[in-house]
Amino acid sequence: MEIKVENLSKNFKNKKALNNVSLDLQSGGLIGLIGPNGAGKSTLFNILTTLQKPTTGKIFLNNKDIVKNPSLMQKNMGFMPQKVPFLPNLTLKEYLNYIAGIKGIPARNAKMEIESLITKFNLLTVPKKQTLSHFSGGMIQRVGMCVALMGNPQIIVVDEPTAGLDPEERINLRNILSELAAEKLVIMSTHIISDIEAVANKIIVLKDGKVKYDGSAIDLMSKASKNVWSMTFPTQTSIKEIEKLGKVSSIVQTMDGIQARIIANQKPTANSINVKPHLEDAYLFLESEGDKA
Ligand SMILES: Nc1ncnc2c1ncn2[C@@H]1O[C@H](COP(=O)(O)OP(=O)(O)OP(=O)(O)O)[C@@H](O)[C@H]1O
Ligand SMILES: [Mg+2]
Repeated sequence: MEIKVENLSKNFKNKKALNNVSLDLQSGGLIGLIGPNGAGKSTLFNILTTLQKPTTGKIFLNNKDIVKNPSLMQKNMGFMPQKVPFLPNLTLKEYLNYIAGIKGIPARNAKMEIESLITKFNLLTVPKKQTLSHFSGGMIQRVGMCVALMGNPQIIVVDEPTAGLDPEERINLRNILSELAAEKLVIMSTHIISDIEAVANKIIVLKDGKVKYDGSAIDLMSKASKNVWSMTFPTQTSIKEIEKLGKVSSIVQTMDGIQARIIANQKPTANSINVKPHLEDAYLFLESEGDKA
């Protein structure tokens, strides 16, 4: 599977939600989409999944124009939107059966597939009669994942699937998506860099509707190799003082004092040590580059 996005723009009244975005997305390795609130991530997903039409630009799935032929995409794609829709008065199985019906999955296959998805996302222990209105936020997220994966789609688009998940479920989801990405085209957006740090083959950074970065995690990290510093401050140092030195990537209390990682162009303090960037540092570096421009 290959999706080519060419010069895609989306305007909402005066707002350019996407501004001339071009991308090449392929199966075989998870694709992570990151960027601040309002960057255009959900808009990009809504257009890729044909829920919205672009203002200008083209999208091709295996060289076929899906803006003209949305059903080509719809047949191959599973989507989990940022706000997971659900029918509050149905139980989990009733709802998933209803979705299976919409997706045209024969009843016998649907039963097996629903069992397998419920097991995968640890929803087996939910009381059978509990309606979705009584599910927690993290449970609804996992229902959304079951819906996205039902029918074994070749393209999986998931918009902040880990939002609201506890650490255990977040790791479970990450493992499931990275396994699926070995063969399918899987693209996920997230604000949690650690969700994609270990598993993404390709990282796309969006900001103000534009692609700020498109490439591997390693290349992104190497961009920040001279700009990440580690240093220790006396325990009583105020965080405000530390923030004056640059963009703070992390602050931890240790027995020796406050240990900080700071993104800055120059050595911030005499005792600062230049350290290897993590993905989070590199992302913050890219962000701060944007602020200067
Ligand atoms: N239907 C709409 N009408 C008007 N403006 C919109 C609409 N949808 C999105 N926007 C605007 O487009 C921009 C991009 O929004 P989008 O939801 O794509 O961002 P995002 O990257 O998904 O953000 P978040 O991380 O908060 O989910 C924002 O400025 C938003 O206000
Ligand atoms: Mg969004």
